[in-house]
Amino acid sequence: MSFEGKVVWVTGASSGIGEALANAFFKQGAYLILSGRRVAELERVAAAAPERALVLPFETTDYDALPQYVEQAWGWRGKIDVLINNAGVSQRSLALDTKLDVYRQLIEVDYLAPLALTQLVLPRMVEQRSGHVAVISSVAGKVGTPLRTGYCGAKHAVIGYFDGLRAEVEAAYGIKVSVILPGSVQTSVAVNALVGDGSSRGRSDANIDNGMPVETAAQIIVSGMAEGKREIPVAEGKELAALNFRTQDPERLFDMLAKEGARLAGLREAGGSTDPSDIRSER
Ligand SMILES: NC(=O)c1ccc[n+]([C@@H]2O[C@H](COP(=O)([O-])OP(=O)(O)OC[C@H]3O[C@@H](n4cnc5c(N)ncnc54)[C@H](OP(=O)(O)O)[C@@H]3O)[C@@H](O)[C@H]2O)c1
Repeated sequence: MSFEGKVVWVTGASSGIGEALANAFFKQGAYLILSGRRVAELERVAAAAPERALVLPFETTDYDALPQYVEQAWGWRGKIDVLINNAGVSQRSLALDTKLDVYRQLIEVDYLAPLALTQLVLPRMVEQRSGHVAVISSVAGKVGTPLRTGYCGAKHAVIGYFDGLRAEVEAAYGIKVSVILPGSVQTSVAVNALVGDGSSRGRSDANIDNGMPVETAAQIIVSGMAEGKREIPVAEGKELAALNFRTQDPERLFDMLAKEGARLAGLREAGGSTDPSDIRSER
């Protein structure tokens, strides 16, 4: 399936995976609704095809305002064919060092916000008897990994919602639901990740810097969606292996992850840092 002429709404389109997805859909001749909070960055992305772009900035957790944005988005071309819930925030802090408010924020941005937007778009897609909803979860949505307990919780939860939703609307109304599972992709995700006190980490880490190029990730996602795939892994190497181990040999995977947890705990005990991954990259 080609996305030419389709209306595609991407949240978190101001950088990273969302920006690369917008560019990939522009190349296919799609119309893009670009959302995020940073207006200047959204306008920069829209400049690739201004005649096929609507810049629609908003905070995804501003639930009371969402209906008006859905109204604007739908009214632009009288339909939405594809909604990609991509906006999200990660975490880099051990549970021992993480305040409850950080967990709350991760659940809001990574779980409740995509659910809230989808709930508003869904009735209109049901009415038009077509549509495609996607969510960018993560390998961390299938595999619980250290330094990301809140992020893993939210990304696991969002898979539960979207898998359940697919079961309700795919055969019944012809609406497709794709769950995307990226491993490390070269974006600002680690820079923007929350640490234990709720502040942003402010710098990247080696896993992300050596991850998959963002254009490659976008290509895999767009191709998978064009094929109507229900689950799209976007991972390679040990992250793809971890996804497979999770179902094929979970005990072995848990052993490997526990070793990493013990290493991080040792660093924490020695250095008192709330971000042990930092100690590693600085050594
Ligand atoms: N990169 C990876 O390795 C990786 C791996 C697995 C999953 N993911 C997921 O991929 C998605 C995109 O992340 P990325 O890697 O591209 O990182 P990124 O460059 O930090 O992009 C995050 C995007 O989300 C938007 N956003 C964040 N919080 C928002 C909020 N409260 N309201 C509105 N927009 C918000 C940001 O826009 P503004 O700042 O303009 O608001 C930005 O465009 C996220 O869901 C992330 O969890 C990434």
